[in-house]
Amino acid sequence: MKFFIDTANLEQIREAHKLGVLDGVTTNPSLMARENIRGQEACNRHYVEICRIVGGDVSAEVIATDFEGMLREGEALAALDPHIVVKVPCTADGIRAITRFTEMGIRTNCTLVFSVGQALLAAKAGATYVSPFVGRLDDISEDGVELVAHIVRIYRTYGFRTRVLAASIRHTRHIVQCMDAGADVVTCPLAAILGLLKHPLTESGLKQFLADHARVNQA
Ligand code: E4P
Repeated sequence: MKFFIDTANLEQIREAHKLGVLDGVTTNPSLMARENIRGQEACNRHYVEICRIVGGDVSAEVIATDFEGMLREGEALAALDPHIVVKVPCTADGIRAITRFTEMGIRTNCTLVFSVGQALLAAKAGATYVSPFVGRLDDISEDGVELVAHIVRIYRTYGFRTRVLAASIRHTRHIVQCMDAGADVVTCPLAAILGLLKHPLTESGLKQFLADHARVNQA
């Protein structure tokens, strides 16, 4: 099971990397815009910097929505660094592009996936990863974790090699639920990763240990 961080913020990526448990990074155009990165050249430099920090898979998304444009952008992104995974939206042109990238040996992440049918097409096209958006489904009163579990079941039944990457994670509980559902990867905000560490008994236990140590050693 792998942990990715879902951000384009270099400080947060460094902080997660320091824990020693980070396997990769996912970005999207909104996350890049949040870092105020303008223009393709600046985006490319930023992706390369992320690859240097993390040394694992880094998803970089195409902006084009037509087949030819996606191919052009995806090839350029993949050429930036061997860790780049080209992120492609789950549309008809996107599935076509993923099929072509698969033939070319370029790894892909099929994004904006909200149904089992979409996940099935992504796997048939040979996507390296499929990204069901858990939080956005929960936002509209659907069950994002159940979608992850359903995709995992179907992929296992048919032996698809596409990895299920649970995305749009909103909180720590989502991480555990997606692991329970059999997700291969969970991509999360830094706060959700750090949330896994938190337990009041760990905090009070450590405080007590240190107080006892200080009492004896000061005497
Ligand atoms: C990552 O691959 C997705 O783009 C991201 O998890 C979406 O998250 P959001 O629904 O919080 O924007």
